[in-house]
Amino acid sequence: MSDFDELFRDSEEIYEKWNLTEIPFSESAEKMTRLGEVFTGRRQELGQTINLLRSRDAKSILVYGWIGIGKTAFIKEVLSGLQRNMKKILTASIKLEPNTDLATAALIALAREMPEDDWAQFQLNRMGLLSDRTLYDRKTTAGGKLVFEGKVEETAIAPEAPQFPSLSFEDLLDRALKTRDRVVIAIDDLDKQEPAQARKLLLDAQGLLKGRAWFLLTGHPSGITRDYLISDRGLFDLPLKLEPLDEDTSYEMLVKYLNTARRRPITERSRSVDPENPDDLNVVHPFTLETARELCQIAHGVPRWLNRMGNYILLKAAELGEPKINDRVFQIGLEYAREQLRGQPGLTPQDYYVLDMVLEKGILSDASVTLEELERVKAETFSEILPILDKLVEYDLLQRMPTERAMEYAPMPLLEQARDPEEPENEKR
Ligand SMILES: Nc1ncnc2c1ncn2[C@@H]1O[C@H](COP(=O)(O)OP(=O)(O)O)[C@@H](O)[C@H]1O
Ligand SMILES: [Mg+2]
Repeated sequence: MSDFDELFRDSEEIYEKWNLTEIPFSESAEKMTRLGEVFTGRRQELGQTINLLRSRDAKSILVYGWIGIGKTAFIKEVLSGLQRNMKKILTASIKLEPNTDLATAALIALAREMPEDDWAQFQLNRMGLLSDRTLYDRKTTAGGKLVFEGKVEETAIAPEAPQFPSLSFEDLLDRALKTRDRVVIAIDDLDKQEPAQARKLLLDAQGLLKGRAWFLLTGHPSGITRDYLISDRGLFDLPLKLEPLDEDTSYEMLVKYLNTARRRPITERSRSVDPENPDDLNVVHPFTLETARELCQIAHGVPRWLNRMGNYILLKAAELGEPKINDRVFQIGLEYAREQLRGQPGLTPQDYYVLDMVLEKGILSDASVTLEELERVKAETFSEILPILDKLVEYDLLQRMPTERAMEYAPMPLLEQARDPEEPENEKR
C-alpha cells in the first residue's frame, strides 16, 4: 500500500468514527450551498423583514453588523424564503465590487436574472459580462447579380460601462415588472468600499432606493452607515442590526452544521437504540456536551468565529487521529487555532506591532491611546492606525467593541485567554 493510500485510509477511519463525511464549517456565507439547512435564529429580524414585505410600495432595508455576524447569510436566507413563498417575484443579488455605483450593480444583478430578455443580455454583454448571448456587430455587404456573394462581417464589441446606469436600470425594471409583481435586489458588502466612497454611493443612490424595486443592503456600522441610519435622512425604511447570537442558539447552530455532514443520521430514536454507547449518538459528536458548550462560549455568538474555531479544532483532531474532542483535545485545538490566526498570510510587521499593543492593553480606543503608544507603532494619529485595526478585525484577530461614543478595539477573546497563564512568566524575565 502506498503512503498516500495508507494515510487516506487512516483519515477515512477517523471521519468514520466521528460519523462525519467532512468538516461541515464554512467561514463565509457566500460560498455556502446548504445555508437553508444550517440557518439558525434571527427570528425577530426575519419577522420584521417579512412584515415590511407585506406593503405594496417598494422599501429598502439595511442589514448591518460586524464582520462575521451573519449579514450575507441573513440576506441569502431572506431571498430564498421569498422565492419559496411569493409568486411573481424576481430576486437578484450581487456583491458590490470596488468602484461600482449602486445603480450599475443593481443593473447587473437584475439583468443576470433575466436570461430570456434580449435587452438585459445586451446590457451585460456591453459591460463585458458573461450572458446567454454573445454580442456581435453584424455588417452585411450586399452582393451583386443572381448569386449571393455577400459576406457577413462580425466583430465583437468592446465592453463599456453604461452611460446612464440609473436610467438603464429603470428601463430594465420596467421590463421586469411587466411579468412580475415585485423585484427584490440584494447588494452585499457596501462597507468594503472606502468610507468616503460608500457615503457618496449612498447619496447618489437616493433616487434608486426610493424607487420601484425593493433593496436589501448590507454594511457594517462604522462611521459610513451610521449617519444614514439614525439621521432624519431616512434613506432606509428599515435598519436592521444583527447582534451576536445567544449561547443556546449557537449550540443549536453547531448541531445543524454537524448534521449536514452526518454519515448516519442521529435522531432521538437512534440514540435510544444503543444505550451502551450513547456518546457516539450524541447530537454534537465528536464534541462532548462540555466541549460543544465551550466552543459556543468562545465564539461569543459570532457565527463566523464558531465556524472558524470549529474548523481549526476538527482539523487538528483529525491530524492527531483523536476519535473524541474531549477537553484535552479541545485545548490542543484552541492552541492550534491561535497559531493559525496569528500566522495568517498577509500580515505585516506593523500589523503585528498594533496587534501586540492591543493584546497588551486589553482595549485600545481613540480616547485612551497615548502619544507614546502611537509612536511605538510608528504613527502620529489614531486615524492612521485605523485601517490596520480594521484589517485585524477582518482577520478575526481583534473585535470592535459595540460602543457609540468611542472607537474601541479589543483582542479576539481566544487570543486574550492565552495570555493570562503566561503573564507571571513574562514578568519574571
Ligand atoms: N444565522 C445563521 N445560522 C447559521 N449560520 C450562520 C448564520 N449567520 C451566519 N452564519 C455563518 O457564519 C459565517 C459568517 O457569516 P456571514 O453571513 O458571511 O457574515 P457577514 O456577511 O456578516 O460577514 C458563514 O459561514 C455563515 O454561513
Ligand atoms: Mg458578508
